[in-house]
Amino acid sequence: MKTVHVNASVNYDIIIEKGSLNKVGAYASSVFKRGSKAAVITDDTVASLYLDQVVPSLSAAGYTVASYIFPHGEDSKSAETLFRVYDFLIEEQLTRPDFIVALGGGVVGDLAGYAAATYLRGIRFMQVPTTFLAAVDSSVGGKTAINIPAGKNLIGAFWQPSLVVCDTETFKTLPAVTFADGVAETIKYGMIFSAPLFERMEQGNIMPEIDEIIAHCVSIKRDVVEQDEHDNGLRMILNYGHTLGHAIEKVTNHSVTHGQGVAMGMLLIAKLGEKLGYHSSALTQRLEACIRSYGLPTHYEGSVAELGEAVLHDKKRSGSSIRLIFVKEPGSAEIISLDVNQFLRLLREV
Ligand code: NAD
Ligand code: GLY
Repeated sequence: MKTVHVNASVNYDIIIEKGSLNKVGAYASSVFKRGSKAAVITDDTVASLYLDQVVPSLSAAGYTVASYIFPHGEDSKSAETLFRVYDFLIEEQLTRPDFIVALGGGVVGDLAGYAAATYLRGIRFMQVPTTFLAAVDSSVGGKTAINIPAGKNLIGAFWQPSLVVCDTETFKTLPAVTFADGVAETIKYGMIFSAPLFERMEQGNIMPEIDEIIAHCVSIKRDVVEQDEHDNGLRMILNYGHTLGHAIEKVTNHSVTHGQGVAMGMLLIAKLGEKLGYHSSALTQRLEACIRSYGLPTHYEGSVAELGEAVLHDKKRSGSSIRLIFVKEPGSAEIISLDVNQFLRLLREV
């Protein structure tokens, strides 16, 4: 078992342990009042696999448990699902001492977290990530959100969980492409903050060390979040590859997953960095080889003009410039402002 402690506006533990799904109730009882209600929010795929471990575990720990299941997929991270979740919480009469359990991947975590942040002006919640991506990234740090037609994560709140319990046994049922989404975020952590982690990812065969790798990633994220919880500076570095990645997700109507978008976004940014003379082609080639070795896409095939348009609607734009994260060598990232027209021109050239 590995535990990483986060000391942010809420102090909480991230517990990474094989088989911990059956202990969710026991771990919850060190944080949430016994006898209160636990509202488990999950998607249909995760429910069919894991709900029957989590619900009895919570009941055995003395909680009254109710569950809400919505269809899996990014399309569910919507206002419609959110309002159905509010209806469910009202029907189940959840009050302030009660809590939400977000059981699933990043879609569940982001949506259930936002419901927790806003229902009754905020109730506590715990994250139980079941995808590699949610384990290394979305379950930690308190960014919660839903998508609206104008863009991804445009409606959201910073709302830290009170506990994160990650059972890496659940990754055994992940489709390979979904596991690879988490790999993209893990490569991101290596690129921005840790050369040894990037080198470990280059070696492949990560499953035997998956708990250690997750602990490493969330320790990096913890260090960033503790310094810049509300994303006013340093935290933006965690969005390496994401500005273009989000744009790719948007223009492809989410047929490209978040992790695939991040993978292609990191490579596009590396190519821009090369054009700007920040680093040699060797870094781009290393990144490309690493991404490809996990079956992630390396090239965006669609219209670059459309992509540029989508990027300009992203939250990172500020007036006539756009802030982007560049990595000059693994482990070292920088935020750089580019003129929008220069950015669009370079994007057409790569
Ligand atoms: P996801 O939640 O859609 O999960 C991917 C698929 O895997 C779903 O179909 C789900 O039902 C299924 N699944 C989940 N666990 C499973 C398991 N153990 N076995 C089999 N199937 C399982 O997607 P994701 O990749 O986990 O998360 C992507 C989302 O996370 C995006 O919306 C992205 O914006 C968000 N995100 C948020 C943050 C943050 O800081 N809040 C960070 C990164 C990504
Ligand atoms: N996933 C980026 C962040 O949490 O800031």
